[in-house]
Amino acid sequence: MPDAYNVALMGATGAVGTELLALLEERNFPIKSLKLLASPRSAGKQVSFKGKSLTVEETSAEAFKGVDIVLASAGGSTSKQWAKAIVDAGALMIDNSSAFRMEASVPLVVPEVNPDDAKDHSGIIANPNCTTILMSVALWPLHQIQPIRRVVVATYQSASGAGARAMEEVKQQARAILDGKTPPTESFPYPLAFNLFPHNSPLNEQGYCEEEMKMVNETRKIFGVSDLRVSATCIRVPVLRAHSEAVNLEFWQPFSVAEAREAIAQAKGVTLKEDWEANYFPMPIDASGEDDVLVGRIRQDLSHPNGLELWLCGDQIRKGAALNAIQIAELVVAKQWLKQPTAVSV
Ligand code: A2P
Repeated sequence: MPDAYNVALMGATGAVGTELLALLEERNFPIKSLKLLASPRSAGKQVSFKGKSLTVEETSAEAFKGVDIVLASAGGSTSKQWAKAIVDAGALMIDNSSAFRMEASVPLVVPEVNPDDAKDHSGIIANPNCTTILMSVALWPLHQIQPIRRVVVATYQSASGAGARAMEEVKQQARAILDGKTPPTESFPYPLAFNLFPHNSPLNEQGYCEEEMKMVNETRKIFGVSDLRVSATCIRVPVLRAHSEAVNLEFWQPFSVAEAREAIAQAKGVTLKEDWEANYFPMPIDASGEDDVLVGRIRQDLSHPNGLELWLCGDQIRKGAALNAIQIAELVVAKQWLKQPTAVSV
C-alpha cells in the first residue's frame, strides 16, 4: 500500500473545493502531490496549502494522468464531462455532484452508514446530496435499533448549497435591502435575504422538486431499503452555512424517546445537543464549522404511537459535502479499495 497519494481537486476554487483543501490539511491526508483544478477563469490563481502556494490549473484530461484520487466538486455537467478521462487515467473519482449517484454501478456512500458499499466501485464513488447525508447520519443509529417505516422531512437550507457566489450574493442582497436598493438575484431566482422560498430545482409532475426527490431516492439507496417511505419539502432560507431539518419518523414499532436519545448520544458523526430547561436546541451557527450533525428536540409524535419528531443542523459544506468526501477517501485508502476492479463505461 502506498503511504501517500497523488490527489486532484476538481472545483478547487468553489465553496466545497475550498473546504476540501482545508480538510486535507487539517486531517493530514497522506498526499504525495496535489493538483488544484477549476475552470479557465481561475487558471493561474494562487492558493495556499500547508504553507506553500499552489497554482490553480485549467481542468484537462492531461491533468488527471498519474492521479490516484480526484475529489470532484465542480457541478454535475463538469463531472459528466471529465468522468471518463478520470477513470481512463486510472484514478478514483469521488464525486460531489448528482451526476452518477443513482447509477447501479456507482456506490453512494456515507461512511457512518454504508462504508462497505465503497468497496464495489468501478472508478467512481458518489457523495450524496447534502441534506440526505445530514439526515442519514442522524437516522441510521435509530434505524439500527428500530427500523424506520416512514420519514417526513422539511428542510431549511442555507445559501452555501448553491455555492460560494450564492453565499456572497445573500450578503449583497442584505446590504442592498438595508440601503433601500433592489437586491441582486443572479444565483437565485428571488431575493433570499429577509426571505425564504421552496427549493428552486426543477419540479416533477407530482409537484416534488429535484432536491426533494434526491432525499427520497438517495436515502433509499444509502439505507439499502428500496421501498422506504420518504416525503420531503425543501426550503431555502437566508442562512449562510449549515442546513437544518425537521424530521418526523414513523417506526414499525413504538420507540421510546429515552432510547432514541441514547442511540443518538452513542452514535458516530452525531452529537445530541439539547437543553430543555433553557429551551436551547441546535442552530445553524452552532453547526457551522463542526464535523458532527447536531440533533435535538427528540420527542414523541403526539399524532402517532410509533412516531418521533427530531430537529437537526449540520454543516452543509463540511459533513454535507467536503468532509463526507474526505472520509470516503480515507476509507478506501485504509481498506485498500482504491483501484478499480473493472473500468466503468460513462
Ligand atoms: P471557477 O472558480 O474557476 O469558476 P461553487 O460550487 O462554489 O459555485 O464552485 C464551483 C467550482 O467548480 C469552482 O471551483 C469552479 O471554478 C468550478 N467549475 C465551474 N465550472 C467549471 C468547468 N467548466 N470546468 C472546471 N471547473 C469548473
